[in-house]
Amino acid sequence: MIGGGYVGLVSGTCFAEFGTDVAIVETNPDRLTALREGRIPIYEPGLDRLVEENVEAGRLTFGDDIAAAVKGADAVFVAVGTPSRRGDGQADTSYVYAAVEQIARVADGYTVIVTKSTVPVGTGREIAQIIRKTRPDLDFDVASNPEFLREGNAIQDFMRPDRVIIGTDQYKPEGTERAQNILRKLYRPLYLLETPIVFTGLETAELIKYSANSFLAMKITFINEISDLCEKVGANVNDVARSIGLDGRIGKKFLHPSPGFGGSCFPKDTRALTAIGRNAGSPVRLIETTVAVNEQRMKDMGERVITFAGGDVSGLTIGVLGLTFKPETDDMREAASIPVLDMLDKGGAKIRAFDPAGMTTARPVLPQSVTYCTDALDAAKGADILVVLTEWNEFRSLAPEKLAAEMKGRKIADLRNIWDPKAIKDAGFEYISLGRPDGVQPHQA
Ligand code: NAD
Ligand code: UDX
Repeated sequence: MIGGGYVGLVSGTCFAEFGTDVAIVETNPDRLTALREGRIPIYEPGLDRLVEENVEAGRLTFGDDIAAAVKGADAVFVAVGTPSRRGDGQADTSYVYAAVEQIARVADGYTVIVTKSTVPVGTGREIAQIIRKTRPDLDFDVASNPEFLREGNAIQDFMRPDRVIIGTDQYKPEGTERAQNILRKLYRPLYLLETPIVFTGLETAELIKYSANSFLAMKITFINEISDLCEKVGANVNDVARSIGLDGRIGKKFLHPSPGFGGSCFPKDTRALTAIGRNAGSPVRLIETTVAVNEQRMKDMGERVITFAGGDVSGLTIGVLGLTFKPETDDMREAASIPVLDMLDKGGAKIRAFDPAGMTTARPVLPQSVTYCTDALDAAKGADILVVLTEWNEFRSLAPEKLAAEMKGRKIADLRNIWDPKAIKDAGFEYISLGRPDGVQPHQA
């Protein structure tokens, strides 16, 4: 497994748990040292125990020696980053291609080189060319096995997935069968769970991953726009989401309004799909719009807080609950808190923030002036306004009276709808949330 980040570490550990010998190669010295010392460099519930058990069982090792890991391996997975390229939004495949060259130089015997990273359509075929150029003698096949795990639920998602996608070269039937057999063996425990395993071509597997993420991002963006509309017409987005979601064709998941989707995948994968579409001469306009609407939404959320404050936040103290792009992760990549706090900081607000897991990862990406607090009540101390940006469970149970006792002002902007408007208002607060009618005058036609 090349790359020991979220995907490499979780997939490698879970494959080991399935009974396979796994060597994870990680080049970042801090990450590697942590892993070797039994510390997990990412926040993922349950992963520490699973890593420990598999290391003890001798099935899982960590190192930076790619040759040692690749020699004798039946399959080598590439799970390195594919971040957005500045400017055109395309996925940067340079880490993938660099890893593939390294693999090609040291592989021996028949080897399947598998992309676990999310890669643009055509990458698998490009990888095959790189390998042929680097090692004309190597007996190999290329496969695409995209990963659908969610941070915070990664182990469950990997061990009990909705489906597994295995793409192999459809123009090379003999190779396809050999590669498929190796991957089938790796995923054998999932056959017992009757997990659908979809065997398909390389390009199809690559496109499936972008299509899945983009569809989910579009679904969120849809409910976010409906949420705004609810506010204008006096409707309740929770009831709209629940009711449309009860239609099995729509489904109830991913219909929670939010300050905008973030994370390491949706923003970059929607941008990448629009680039893939444009380059292929077949633009995916719904996703181009999704990208634009989501970027604007994060800025609108900053504006919303400023308007709620009376149009000027300079000199105000703003308490912030939640910084990460979603709960149960320490990941700050493309979190809505980044543009929102940036606007509040530029407006002259004093920001007191707390996040249960993201305090260390937040510092490098948030304004320097932010004060990091010990808990939620500490963040509320002396605040004129309290803003909820991530729906961590521990915030849901905070008693409004306790918040009131800490705060100077009486304004709460709940941008994740974690509280019941009535309970908060009964405690004497002025309260705004997303798409719920309380306190919002219906639009007069
Ligand atoms: P990450 O940045 O957390 O991890 C990548 C790791 O690879 C880093 O630790 C880096 O040091 C290491 N690395 C880079 N080049 C290397 C090399 N040549 N040899 C050894 N190690 C190397 O990224 P991630 O979040 O794990 O994502 C990896 C890929 O998986 C991306 O393409 C992403 O789109 C995809 N993906 C991510 C998620 C997710 O939830 N994070 C889910 C599904 C798919
Ligand atoms: C996502 C995909 O779900 C996963 O299948 C893929 O492998 C990687 O990308 P992840 O980024 O970990 O996983 O988080 P996810 O739970 O999907 O949330 C992404 C963003 O959407 C978060 O910012 C979250 O707050 C937001 N979201 C999610 C909403 O705003 N509303 C929702 O209803 C659901």
